[in-house]
Amino acid sequence: MRIVDQIKAKARAQVKTIVLPEGDEPRTIQAAAILQAEGLARPVLLGEEEKIRSDAAALGADLTGVCIVSPAASDRRQAYADLLYELRKNKGLTHEAAETLALDPMYYGILMVKSGEADGLLSGAVHTTGDMLRPALQIIRTKPGIDVVSSSVLLDLGDERFGEHGVLLMSDCVVIPCPTAKELAQIAVSSAETARDLCDFAEPRVALLSFSTKGSARHELVTKVSEAAAMAHEMAPELLLDGELQFDAALIPEIGASKAPGSPVAGRANVLIFPDLQSGNIGYKIAQRLTGASAVAILQGLARPCNDLSRGCSVEDIVTTAAITAVQAQAAARSGK
Ligand code: ACO
Repeated sequence: MRIVDQIKAKARAQVKTIVLPEGDEPRTIQAAAILQAEGLARPVLLGEEEKIRSDAAALGADLTGVCIVSPAASDRRQAYADLLYELRKNKGLTHEAAETLALDPMYYGILMVKSGEADGLLSGAVHTTGDMLRPALQIIRTKPGIDVVSSSVLLDLGDERFGEHGVLLMSDCVVIPCPTAKELAQIAVSSAETARDLCDFAEPRVALLSFSTKGSARHELVTKVSEAAAMAHEMAPELLLDGELQFDAALIPEIGASKAPGSPVAGRANVLIFPDLQSGNIGYKIAQRLTGASAVAILQGLARPCNDLSRGCSVEDIVTTAAITAVQAQAAARSGK
């Protein structure tokens, strides 16, 4: 079974409520109909009910059983404005501004998640990554013990020679432009958790990537990666992790054996940590486009799951990422975070 089918099976086993703030966007409407019909989630669409239902009819999407909430008409509106004000007043937010912001579907959706009325949120078919991330960072904030929100991209290469039966996680490809060594270490530990909890990797094997393998080159950028590897090891001593490693030393068994003999992950890494967002974002897109691999971005480190879509996403991408969000919500509920 491919990894996405495994994740969908997990989502069906314990159905979660996922809010879709871009509720009047055509692909989102179609995805909500599929999520409801296939029992992958209880979708909540935000927007004007009459318009959404008439657009759904025109699209041939059956929204029977799908909840639609208009923030402007909702009786939760005032409570959400109060909650937002309480959370952000020390940052200078006025009550008046909180009342206006709470009407914005993105903020309204995040506030639903914060107050436990939804288990997770998915958007980004229309909004940019920054527009989606800022309210999540400001309101949902990080899990206990984690300082930074980051991302993993789940790449299904379909080539058993690499990663975990052809699946690799690449991190961080979406969030932190220029991580410090400490942030890189946290990205490595969070990515291992994503590999275990979401992707069922039996044994996450984490490689912190560089243009150097174990001191083959000297540069401050290399030092940052080896320091991050040492910090990550301290944070999670049980984790199989190594760095700095070049990409080929991390992935190809013969090269790993010759460049990093004795390494616990070289040549068989299944979680790849890039040194910054430029390399991570470029790296995953190269792998995706040149191999035809499927790629899904997953946010990690938030106290409750919120995920971002690419604006070029398909209906199937929305369905898959909603299922991922639902499985992350199951894990959050289990850990009580
Ligand atoms: N983890 C935890 N908290 C964070 C993080 C983080 N990674 N980044 C910012 N914050 C906090 C800040 O401390 C701040 O908290 P506060 O307001 O309570 O003090 C709050 O979040 C908002 O921070 P800002 O300073 O307003 O936001 P910033 O300008 O730092 O932007 C953002 C954060 C949006 C994540 C920015 O780093 C960004 O745009 N990243 C790149 C996103 C992007 O464009 N990716 C492209 C790839 S998309 C793709 O290919 C699918």
